[in-house]
Amino acid sequence: MLDLQAYKERVYIEDIHNHVGEEVVIAGWLYNKRSSGKIHFLLVRDGTNIIQCVVVKNECPDEVFEEAPGIPLESSVLVKGVVKEDKRSPLGYELLLTDLRVVHRAEEYPIGKKEHGIDFLLDHRHLWLRSRRPFAILRIRHEVVKAIRDFFNERGFVLVDTPIFTPNAVEGTTTLFETEYFGQKAYLTQSGQLYAEAAAMAFGKVYCFGPTFRAEKSKTRRHLTEFWMVEPEVAYFDLDDDMKLAEEFVSYIVQRVLENRRMELEILERDTAPLEKVTPPFPKITYDEAVKILHENGVDFQWGDDFGGADETIISNQFDKPVIVHRYPAEVKAFYMKRDPQNEKLALAMDMLAPEGYGEIIGGSQREDDYDTLLKRLEEHNLPREPFEWYLDLRRYGSVPHAGFGLGLERTVAWICGVQHVRETIPFPRTIYRLTP
Ligand code: 4AD
Ligand code: MG
Repeated sequence: MLDLQAYKERVYIEDIHNHVGEEVVIAGWLYNKRSSGKIHFLLVRDGTNIIQCVVVKNECPDEVFEEAPGIPLESSVLVKGVVKEDKRSPLGYELLLTDLRVVHRAEEYPIGKKEHGIDFLLDHRHLWLRSRRPFAILRIRHEVVKAIRDFFNERGFVLVDTPIFTPNAVEGTTTLFETEYFGQKAYLTQSGQLYAEAAAMAFGKVYCFGPTFRAEKSKTRRHLTEFWMVEPEVAYFDLDDDMKLAEEFVSYIVQRVLENRRMELEILERDTAPLEKVTPPFPKITYDEAVKILHENGVDFQWGDDFGGADETIISNQFDKPVIVHRYPAEVKAFYMKRDPQNEKLALAMDMLAPEGYGEIIGGSQREDDYDTLLKRLEEHNLPREPFEWYLDLRRYGSVPHAGFGLGLERTVAWICGVQHVRETIPFPRTIYRLTP
C-alpha cells in the first residue's frame, strides 16, 4: 500500500499533460466511481480538476483491486499510476492505476445520490463546494478578482483599503447594519467610496476592494447582505471619463475570463457568444431614453422612479452589450452626486446594466465637489453633519472634479457564468435568511 508520505511527490491534475507515460502520484478525494466486474473506474479530484483512474487486475496489487470498488465517495485518497492520453475523456488523460492508499474513509456522503433542492445544498455549502458547478463558478470568480486587480495595477491605481466599521451612511439609511462600538454607534460599511474619495485627493487614482454590507430586506436573485465591491475613484475626472473607464474595465474582465477559464465556462454550459461581443465602446443612453424604451414596451413607468429588476431587463434586452444609463433623476440617487449643470433635476450618475437580464452591475457618478452644495445635500437627505465633517473637509482643502464607480463582484460573476442567482457566486453566501454555514 502507498505510504502517506507519497503525497510529497504528487503532481496536480492540471499539470498532468507534462507527465504522459510517467508514473505519478495524485493526492485528492474520490469524486465518483463505477465498476464493470473486471475493471473499476475511480474519478479522483484534487481541486484543480478530475481524472479517471482505471483499475485493472494484474496492473496493481490484488488487495488494491479488491478495495477499490468499496471506497466511499469523498474519501481522501492517494493514487499512483501511469499517465495515458485518452481522447475520449473530458480531461484528455487518464491514469492506469498501480497503487492506492485511502487516507481517510469518509462516512456516507450526503450530496450526490439524488437531485437536491437549493436549500439542502446551501445548508451543506461547506461540502457542496467540492462539486463540479461550484468548482467552475468559484474558479471564474477567482479569475475575475485577479483581472480586477491587474486592470487597476497596470494603470497605476493605488489600492487603498477602506474601513469596515464606519460612522457614515453612504447609500441611504434603510439598509444599515448597526453595531455597538465601545458605547458608540457604528455601521458595517455599505461602500468604501467616501474614504476612496479622500484617498484620491492624496494619490490621484485609487481603488478599494472588499466586502460591503447591506441589510437588504428584499429577497431577490441579485441581492446579498454581504457582497464584494471594487470601487475606483479618480481626481480630475468627470462623468464621461468615468463611463469610459467602466466600459474598458468590464471588457477587460470578460476577455480575461474567456482567455483563461474556457474549461469552467464549458462545465457551466455557458454560451460564450454573447461574452465575445463585450468590447468597448458600450451603448450609452440617458435615463430619459431608457424611460422611452420602457414606454415603447408597454411598461407603465413614471418619470422620476428608479428602475426595478424587470425594467432593467427590458432596457438591457435592447442591446447585445452592457448598456450604460446616465443622468438619473437626482431624487432617486445618493446625496454625494453632482447635479447636471444643464438640468439641476438630474444627477451626473451612471449605472451599467449587464446583458441577458442580469441587471445593474455598476453604479457610479461624478461627485459634488462644492462645499456649500454638499452641505445642503446632507441636510436634504436628513444626514447628520457631524460624522461627515471629515468628508466635507475634502471640499475645503483643494477640491477638484472627481468621479468613480462601484462594481458588484457577485453580480458580475453571475452574469459571466450565466447563473441565475448571486448566492452561487460567493463561497459562503449571506442573505436575509442565511447566516450558516
Ligand atoms: O449602486 P451602488 O449602491 O453604488 C455604490 O455603492 C457607490 N458608492 C459606488 C461608487 O460609486 N463607488 O452599488 C454598486 C454595485 C451595484 O451596481 C451592484 O452591482 C452591487 O454594487 N450591489 C450589490 N450586489 C449584491 N447584493 C447587493 N445587495 C448589492 N447592492 C449593490
Ligand atoms: Mg446602484
